[in-house]
Amino acid sequence: MLIDQTLAGKAILLVITGGIAAYKTPDLVRRMRERGATVRVIMTEGAQGFITPLTLGAVSGQPVFTALWDRDAEHDIGHVRLAREADLIIVAPASADFLAKMAGGLADDLASTVMLAADAPVLAAPAMNPKMWTHPATQRNVATLRGDGIQFIGPEVGEMAESGEAGLGRMSEPMDIAIAAEQHFATPREEGPLWGKHVLITAGPTHEPIDPVRLIVNRSSGKQGYALAQAAHRAGATVTLVSGPTSLEAPAGVTLKPVQTARQMLAAVEDSLPADIGIFAAAVADWRVADASDAKIKKDGSGQPPTLRLTENPDILATIATSDKRPKLLMGFAAETNDVEANAIAKLAHKGCDYIVANDVSPKSGVMGGDANTVSVVTGSGVERWPTMGKADVAEKLVARLAADLKADLRSTDG
Ligand code: CTP
Repeated sequence: MLIDQTLAGKAILLVITGGIAAYKTPDLVRRMRERGATVRVIMTEGAQGFITPLTLGAVSGQPVFTALWDRDAEHDIGHVRLAREADLIIVAPASADFLAKMAGGLADDLASTVMLAADAPVLAAPAMNPKMWTHPATQRNVATLRGDGIQFIGPEVGEMAESGEAGLGRMSEPMDIAIAAEQHFATPREEGPLWGKHVLITAGPTHEPIDPVRLIVNRSSGKQGYALAQAAHRAGATVTLVSGPTSLEAPAGVTLKPVQTARQMLAAVEDSLPADIGIFAAAVADWRVADASDAKIKKDGSGQPPTLRLTENPDILATIATSDKRPKLLMGFAAETNDVEANAIAKLAHKGCDYIVANDVSPKSGVMGGDANTVSVVTGSGVERWPTMGKADVAEKLVARLAADLKADLRSTDG
């Protein structure tokens, strides 16, 4: 599954304190990393009684910090830098003892010293025995910390891992903590650069029937188009996604128009106009069977295979580029196996669009069906070669580019 890179470029410092829920933290690290975050881990001595620094080092891909005075260790960067380099600090599990130390401003180990030296926002996920959570001392500390601007997630009601006792004290699930981190960084949609704009996207393959059971298909997974839909939605746009058959879920909030054939795709696209931006990422079959059979084609006993007569499909991108409802900005994709850039430059002119995003789809590239993409963006002013990135990152950057160009274009036509 394609995971939205909602934490891309964010440095998260995870402080693990002593509690049985520490066993869930590798999952939390994994979920934040798959959303694009860099995660550094500090463990208290108590935490190391439940899980080892080796495990956290492996899942975070970073050295794990445990001691305040560890100047001999090669990776030691000092508590002030650890504190300063974090965009968000997550304390999970946050034990009763550690909350008390934070509230009191104690600094007698690396974790508590970093908390005192940090000015990054802090999200704490408490986990403790329900009696300890409801104890007036803990509640007093939590109130103090809330007053200091610390945010809390949980604890939840549930069975305690150690005693089977039920009550308020269980740490929130790693996924919920990762989502809380996401929400912390999320830009409200209405502040996004495409707020109020309509973005129309085609994605996936088309299926062209030969007869009721056989098809002409291609290897497009739809991942790049769906990632673009998600990125455009997050940028505030109203998004229509016209998609051929894929195994993907439409991103939440996006209007999905499912189609099978190229002709259905063209009809759905025309029906969805007007739009401010058109992104044509579908791998549309160039040809369909001219006289697709209504009944399954049977072997006729002659030993001769049937002849399939093909006819050309409409070119959706070229058709829209010359229509009177042409979106202000039109982006096409060029899936090529050789002479990628030369073909893309030619395609820009012949399709009549403003951008061609060219990618190498030769089998050695692994682009078809894979999660990464290496693209070149071809416009009237030249060719930009982008480094290899995940499809979600490519989508994010393409949408940012379109939003900036749309703004510039509107400014120039207004003025
Ligand atoms: N495209 C389209 N309708 C078609 C064929 C292609 O809208 N019938 C769009 C694709 O969505 C893509 C761009 O045109 O944005 C280029 O697709 P590609 O398959 O690379 O180009 P073709 O026109 O099919 O050229 P060729 O197969 O000759 O390389």
